[in-house]
Amino acid sequence: MDTPSSTQQQIEQALLDEVVASFDNTPDPRLRQLMQSLVTHLHSFIRDVRLTEEEWNHAIDFLTRVGHITDDRRQEFVLLSDTLGASMQTIAVNNQAYKDATEATVFGPFFVDDAPRIDLGGDIAGAATGQPAWVEGVVTDTEGNPVPGARIEVWESDEDGFYDVQYDDGRTHGRAHLFTDDQGRYRFWGLTPVPYPIPHDGPVGQMLQAVGRSPLRAAHLHFMVTAEGMRTLVTHIFVEGDPQIEIGDSVFGVKESLIKRFEEHPAGTPTPNGRDVGDRTWTSCRFDIVLAPATNPDTTDTPEEM
Ligand code: BEZ
Ligand code: FE
Repeated sequence: MDTPSSTQQQIEQALLDEVVASFDNTPDPRLRQLMQSLVTHLHSFIRDVRLTEEEWNHAIDFLTRVGHITDDRRQEFVLLSDTLGASMQTIAVNNQAYKDATEATVFGPFFVDDAPRIDLGGDIAGAATGQPAWVEGVVTDTEGNPVPGARIEVWESDEDGFYDVQYDDGRTHGRAHLFTDDQGRYRFWGLTPVPYPIPHDGPVGQMLQAVGRSPLRAAHLHFMVTAEGMRTLVTHIFVEGDPQIEIGDSVFGVKESLIKRFEEHPAGTPTPNGRDVGDRTWTSCRFDIVLAPATNPDTTDTPEEM
């Protein structure tokens, strides 16, 4: 690509300066900063790649299609942000490492607000099929003190890689909430997570195909943990040994500290709470959760969907 002449560069720079200056009188200083930085980076991209008019048209068409497929249930813009790593970068900026607090990861589109409550040791899977998985751990603060009464929301896909809300028949399975006991402990039955694709029948799926990327997510189980005075934690656990971790997670959600062992037990092995799982194998996993204090200046509260 030829470097533009200095006259051409001056013309392009003058346009950028004019655009940046057009935001100078924005009353809200934060909005001014956001807009001026945004147009600076956008112009820099256009000039760097010497964007053609055909490419500009293509980008407008792509964004238009992202808008058209988006409705109350399908959020293609968030999916786009996820697949560009913008969601995980925003999470990284807003959930800065704090002592040994558990790392956060992407929220995803499949959380629902009113999942049923289960008792400790209860089953979140319901009618969802898959290999039973016993998950337990303790919720503490960064000083190691247990956090009693923490609310834990958990949700996951069935063994076919679908969440209940993807079935369009109003079913609820593979999700629940529970509370830690007076020593901060929790335990429940779920399903051993499996890899599954993000929704890829829209423009984001086409983009992934065009660049040779897989829509698959590494197998995971979602958690959201809330407790008085603590930073809300939105995270997942991933399955040690899942090949998709090496191949790559389509939304960049994997963090080393969140990869956990799901130990497989032969059929007939007694289960931790005496549940009869029939003639099936089952797995067990330990996930201890450390919450950062909400008062830490680097903390955030309730997440937006990401
Ligand atoms: C998920 O975890 O299910 C998910 C996350 C981001 C985009 C799509 C799906
Ligand atoms: Fe998920």
